[in-house]
Amino acid sequence: MAEALLRAERVSKRFGKFTAVNQVTLEIEAGVLTSIIGPNGAGKTTLINVLTGSLPCDSGRIFFNGEDITHLPTDRRVRKGLSRSFQITNIFPQMTVEQNILLPLLARQGRTGQPFARYDSYADTLAEAESLLRELGLWEMRDAPASELSHGDQRRLEIGMALAPHPRLCFLDEPTSGMNPLERAEVLEAIRGLAAEHDVTFVVVEHDMDMVFSVSERIVVMHRGEILADGTPAEIRDNREVREVYLGEAID
Ligand SMILES: Nc1ncnc2c1ncn2[C@@H]1O[C@H](COP(=O)(O)OP(=O)(O)OP(=O)(O)O)[C@@H](O)[C@H]1O
Ligand SMILES: [Mg+2]
Repeated sequence: MAEALLRAERVSKRFGKFTAVNQVTLEIEAGVLTSIIGPNGAGKTTLINVLTGSLPCDSGRIFFNGEDITHLPTDRRVRKGLSRSFQITNIFPQMTVEQNILLPLLARQGRTGQPFARYDSYADTLAEAESLLRELGLWEMRDAPASELSHGDQRRLEIGMALAPHPRLCFLDEPTSGMNPLERAEVLEAIRGLAAEHDVTFVVVEHDMDMVFSVSERIVVMHRGEILADGTPAEIRDNREVREVYLGEAID
């Protein structure tokens, strides 16, 4: 079997006496659209924080492309191809839509303080910003302050910002939060297209079970900091423990 893109081995994260992520072992395979589901407080966001470096883990090891990244800071993980978007909207509201997307593009090239980094020309960077904004349906709004975008469009912009560093693996933490069902379907469909277009593997946290079961190729279920189940949508649908956690009805 090919080396997993990301591998977590017995990773734990505690907050005081409370264990938010408990000995999680997980492999993410390249090219498989994976969802992480679980009740509020299950530890989904904390797991993403630990895997992407926003929080240090207390124990365990994390490998990306076979390389131990357990102790690497976030920016080094981003440079290696591991990015994420946030559960809470994380754009710069006063800056324009285009400036928001330019920021991570420029950061990728090290224009933010590394004198000997190799730069793309600024024209190339602008062209890349344009192409990302067009793919996300935001090009017409490029000169508007990001604060003026609809909530759904702000969430799209964040997906674009997470893609700007050219990740191989990108975690999206509730990319459709606050959206209506139609917008959700559109965004999740867009994510499928972006995965193919950018050769990136997405791992998505999503609460809408209809969406999860229709778009995912693999579903990881978290409960109380642990992985309760991990499998194809059909396997998860038939899993008795998962049905108990969700009281059955949400996944019928
Ligand atoms: N910085 C923190 N300090 C203390 N406790 C925390 C912290 N971050 C998270 N927790 C706790 O850890 C548990 C897991 O939280 P987490 O945000 O990972 O859950 P989640 O699965 O993402 O939930 P949701 O679906 O509501 O986003 C929760 O009980 C939460 O209160
Ligand atoms: Mg969360």
